[in-house]
Amino acid sequence: MAPRRLLLVGEGNFSFAAALSETLDSNASLTATCIQHPVELARDPVAQKNLLRLRERGTEVRFGVDCTQLANAFEPHDRKFDRIYFNFPHCGRKAGVAKNRKLLAKFFQSCVDVLAEEGEVHVALCRGQGGTPADKPQREWHNSWQVVAMAALGGLILSDVLPFSCEAVPGYKCTGYRSQDKSFRTEGALNHIFTWSLPFEGSQPRVFRIKLGGQWFSFSEPKALAGKLNRGFLEASSCHPIQILNEKLIVELGTTFPFKRLKCSFPLLPLKGTSVLPSWNCDILSSFWINLHEDNSDSESLNGETIQEMEDFLVSFSELSLHKSPRRDGKEVHEGISGQAKVWLRSSLLVHVQAIIQAPDFLPGSLYILSGPVFQKCHILPFTMPAFHETLLILGFNQSLKDNCLPSLLNHLTGILDSLLTQTLSDGSTLSSSVEFVPQPNRNDYIIHVKSHNFGPDCAKDLIIGSVITSVTSITHKDQCFVLVSINLDLLAMIVWGISDWRILWTFDNRFLKKFLPGEIEPFKSYSLYPPCYVHDISFWLDEEKGFDELEFHTVARAVSQDTIISIKFLGRFQHPKTEQVSLCYRLTYQTCDKALTQQQVASMQSQFRKEIQQQLHVIPR
Ligand SMILES: C[S@@+](CC[C@H](N)C(=O)[O-])C[C@H]1O[C@@H](n2cnc3c(N)ncnc32)[C@H](O)[C@@H]1O
Repeated sequence: MAPRRLLLVGEGNFSFAAALSETLDSNASLTATCIQHPVELARDPVAQKNLLRLRERGTEVRFGVDCTQLANAFEPHDRKFDRIYFNFPHCGRKAGVAKNRKLLAKFFQSCVDVLAEEGEVHVALCRGQGGTPADKPQREWHNSWQVVAMAALGGLILSDVLPFSCEAVPGYKCTGYRSQDKSFRTEGALNHIFTWSLPFEGSQPRVFRIKLGGQWFSFSEPKALAGKLNRGFLEASSCHPIQILNEKLIVELGTTFPFKRLKCSFPLLPLKGTSVLPSWNCDILSSFWINLHEDNSDSESLNGETIQEMEDFLVSFSELSLHKSPRRDGKEVHEGISGQAKVWLRSSLLVHVQAIIQAPDFLPGSLYILSGPVFQKCHILPFTMPAFHETLLILGFNQSLKDNCLPSLLNHLTGILDSLLTQTLSDGSTLSSSVEFVPQPNRNDYIIHVKSHNFGPDCAKDLIIGSVITSVTSITHKDQCFVLVSINLDLLAMIVWGISDWRILWTFDNRFLKKFLPGEIEPFKSYSLYPPCYVHDISFWLDEEKGFDELEFHTVARAVSQDTIISIKFLGRFQHPKTEQVSLCYRLTYQTCDKALTQQQVASMQSQFRKEIQQQLHVIPR
């Protein structure tokens, strides 16, 4: 094991340092520091006794170390601490919340210079000071030290909170305010443990190159889908929870039906071939569009970005010369620019059904399974995602067998989903969710409804995780009938592991995948707790002629905020009594699930959002 380096800042009487040094093994080294100079501690007998203990053990002690300027205290070769402790930070007796927040902010910003890559910052705070829900009772945010928001300024996220027990550190006696002998009240104190967050740059749209019909094209991810294309979660080598779940599902289905897995193509689709979509399932107008540019360069990077290359086998791309794209108003636009083509990202795997059932080797009675990512513009809501993974089951059978085949498939699926959603976890707790196939008014189709209690006590959720379609009149073939089952794997995974924020499924942070061990299902515990929320209102005048597209409003918000907006709430509509001009007002709440987000970053996103809606949606911000 590599040696661990620990740094203590803001020590008072060095009683914590002395106690800690006695618990360390030979692999760990401790540097204990305080801001005071030796003369200031000369008259403190407790401090002198502890300093003697530390010297006897050979512990490094440094005086005059300002924890807001740590780079000044350590030479570049002497930095990279694995753990930095600041117990009960305080600026002094008269300092209020604002001053102490500032101390925390500057301390966290200074940690950046001396914290190792996988290092931790431990900050013990008195009951209520932190301002997170971990404090019981929780103090009002504006009255607290807002520790998670201050840590975000240093790019740190809160990864754990534990009770801080002075008794657990024998001999530790918390010092009071600077130059005072009175001790702090430490009952109910919490130790806040911070770790590095991934930088925001990771979620910038990426550039891809794709070979279609012998020609290379390049394109960039739509901004609202940054980080969502070509992630390979369903590849055989992946240990993503989506893949774990899909494999369980397929293995179980295979116990009753002969099945065949189909290779899923890259999700780009040409404009043709959309007619097979049941209109209630795939709305092409809320699809994401991609601009492909002919790319004959040999370069592996464009604007400094590494280009991800892939070959696609969809032959239909040779038809890309058809430069027509439908608009929301139903009219068609001719693109006509040579070397460019507009394609769309599939919003459902149902687009592939016709090709599959018309293939010469399609066998009735076998279950065909296709799994892949799909994309669709949607409102910003907790359980609605613009990108997710779908598993599609296709079963064909003769009309005469309909009364047997369909109930058999549905029964079997209910059993599988029930067993996935209701199980005893390794910590002894039980997951409890119930699955129901709810018939639709046409009596042929069903939605797969789950009532789940996996998101915490007092938090029952009703979610639709998929659908069963038996009435697709546009997909007919000989005298056969078909049943199609579509399952949203991301939603299913969220329910199974009790993950309440879908965005974390897409994180680039390796700590996420480490939470999932093959064969074990444990409730998911995030490595980013109580991330700060920032609220901004926006109101704008509408352009009467252009109207207002709320879905686009949400999509622009998603793109500009790099998916850091967790909710958009409509606050009201106002019509000017004289001009009759209409204005709308919305409340945007920014919160990330796994990255440090600061007030300043949000303010700049919000001002960018004002500009973008003006440009793209033709509204006039007030
Ligand atoms: C309430 S005392 C806690 C002392 C000690 N950590 C303990 O647990 O007993 C707050 C401490 O924060 C220290 N402090 C305040 N500002 C500091 C700074 N900029 N750099 C280092 N220490 C600071 C004070 O000197 C004081 O010792």
